[in-house]
Amino acid sequence: MTCNCCSSNDTNDTKIFDSKNLFLPKETKIVKVIQSTQLERHFTLRLADGGKMKFYPGQILEVSLHGYGEIPIGLASSPTRENTFDIVIRSTGRVSTAINQLKEGDSLFIRGPLGHGFDLPVLRNNNILIVAGGIGLCPTRSLIQYIMDRRSEFKRFSLFYGSRDPSQQMFLDDLSNWRGSADVEFHETVDKGDATWKGNVGVITTLFKKANIAPDTKVIICGPPVMFKFVIKELDSVGISHKNIFVDLERRMKCGLGKCGHCQINDKYVCVDGPVFTYSDIENLEEAL
Ligand code: FES
Repeated sequence: MTCNCCSSNDTNDTKIFDSKNLFLPKETKIVKVIQSTQLERHFTLRLADGGKMKFYPGQILEVSLHGYGEIPIGLASSPTRENTFDIVIRSTGRVSTAINQLKEGDSLFIRGPLGHGFDLPVLRNNNILIVAGGIGLCPTRSLIQYIMDRRSEFKRFSLFYGSRDPSQQMFLDDLSNWRGSADVEFHETVDKGDATWKGNVGVITTLFKKANIAPDTKVIICGPPVMFKFVIKELDSVGISHKNIFVDLERRMKCGLGKCGHCQINDKYVCVDGPVFTYSDIENLEEAL
């Protein structure tokens, strides 16, 4: 059977992650840890049994640590990359702070992958714009890597990234590569610069002046809730259909399985129906954004 996301053949994988048993945590080993910002740590993981996990860009994992609990985290790498996968954990509570004490070689447990990721067949052969604010770069990085690895399957690729200040920028190696890459039109900004910052200063919507986005572009947005309505206003002025705007609402998830109701927006469950939604499907739902 061929995988829709990466065209790999299942028969080439000696062990496949058992995604059917989503209640059973599976052990992973931490291969690498990078202190990404003051609060965020970037983990590279591999399955402890040596298998390759099948997932789609935009899907999430439930990440757990014995004695502490479980938190939902978006996958931050593409299935087109190696037998490892990346997540980024922000220290905000008991579980995330405990996870961020772990080091290379330690175990972490995961359930998943969960939810629907980005609709790759809809995105292929189109102009793509990704608008990522703050830690919204983490789940979108899975799609960015995917597009970069399969560049010929997509047309023009633009990426806007906004951070509060230079110290909040994540994935510094990636940023460095994207700045010099002919494969992506990368534009970045910070709300507030410092003595070292030579780039754009201003909110993320100021980047629209730097790129002439075509009205038929497919746009992916992920970031803090306050960002969405301003970005969508800009997209409206460009003439982009709400059917061509995709929003990642992963921050609302908890159990990831349609059980706890934490992610419910009217009749939709973000964990089961999302976390990626077409904007036209949710724009009239109260509290969707
Ligand atoms: S996260 Fe629990 S129902 Fe969706």
